[in-house]
Amino acid sequence: MKDKNRRQKKGPAVTGAARSGERVRQGSPIRNGDAKPQAGAVAKHAGGSRGEPSRRKDVGAAAAKTVPERVSRAAASQVPEPQRKLIVRTGDKPAERVPVILETAGTDDYRLIDSGAGEKLEQYGPYRIVRPEAQALWPRSLPASVWEKADAVFTGDTDEDGMGRWRFSGDALGETWPMRLLDTDFHGRFTAFRHVGVFPEQLAHWSWMKARIEAAGRPLKVLNLFGYTGVASLVAARAGAEVTHVDASKKAIGWARENQALGRGEALPIRWICEDAMKFILREERRGSRYDIILADPPKFGRGPNGEVWQLFDSLPLMLDVCREILAPDDAALVLTAYSIRASFYSIHELMRETMRGRGGLVESGELVIREGGTDGRTTGRALSTSLFSRWTSA
Ligand SMILES: C[S@@+](CC[C@H](N)C(=O)[O-])C[C@H]1O[C@@H](n2cnc3c(N)ncnc32)[C@H](O)[C@@H]1O
Repeated sequence: MKDKNRRQKKGPAVTGAARSGERVRQGSPIRNGDAKPQAGAVAKHAGGSRGEPSRRKDVGAAAAKTVPERVSRAAASQVPEPQRKLIVRTGDKPAERVPVILETAGTDDYRLIDSGAGEKLEQYGPYRIVRPEAQALWPRSLPASVWEKADAVFTGDTDEDGMGRWRFSGDALGETWPMRLLDTDFHGRFTAFRHVGVFPEQLAHWSWMKARIEAAGRPLKVLNLFGYTGVASLVAARAGAEVTHVDASKKAIGWARENQALGRGEALPIRWICEDAMKFILREERRGSRYDIILADPPKFGRGPNGEVWQLFDSLPLMLDVCREILAPDDAALVLTAYSIRASFYSIHELMRETMRGRGGLVESGELVIREGGTDGRTTGRALSTSLFSRWTSA
């Protein structure tokens, strides 16, 4: 199967000119392949320590009041007044567990083979791919002869979000190829911003979510905000959940639907919604909708389909506040990932605990890392950090 998929002699090398909805790991705000930011444009990607400085807006503190009250926290900032004010949360903060390091090791279709000297070598389905990796400060473990055999190398700006092009060692490869993770089929994809249509470090969250859905004994309602190519939505639906997937990029939603079709998942209960994530959850709050699990993997900067601006440091407090309101009253979970921001996991950890005051449960926060596995997938190598996360569970 793997050999069969090697080198489909198809389209030209993919350049940085025409992709959207891609998660980018570092640098300045990205455009969707255009000069101007458009829907779903995202800047920076993952990794606790990756990314540029960001001004932290004052999110205030939850005052010790007995009755929830709405307060404005954006007055002193230059961002537009949010559509609804933050609720002052009272009650005890949830229990905490820190630091938690969630590690992704290799699977049949994905493996971090080696890293070092500012690059990483990974196996995505049938292909070996080399991409820049600013955090790989250490030397490579494997000899140059192994790296030189890579099928595709991303060359371009050394910035994480720099556009560039893919260089292939032989004939140009097709833009997509089939992959399978957690029993879910989807396309690997050479995109313009060095990304390949899936963020494998998310496997740690996805397998946790899958187990929770399978153990529930009823169809859980899952909301996947900033859902990109839909792999998490497909994993959740296959495990038995009813899924609402929200992303601002029409193109990303199109890729997600292609992934659904690839796995013959047309009948899966997934609502694909192309909308600004904040706008969507505010509407759900007004409607009184409830979800058992909410996943949110926001970029540092992005735009909704109508130009709505998402700035993580400005928008996250309100997003979590609204998510709390649309979580089911019992047995609920909220999983947040953040990347390419200059912040410690403690900043999202403490925000999560303040937001979830009075709801009990546990907040666990830390980093998502991927462990090198060597060419055979059996060697235990170094851990590469990709992102920060914070996860609240009611029980
Ligand atoms: C980092 S990706 C999420 C990746 C996803 N968690 C995964 O692993 O497959 C970020 C996504 O946010 C979307 N996005 C950016 N701004 C948005 C906004 N304002 N509302 C909704 N989605 C947005 C982008 O189109 C992109 O698909």
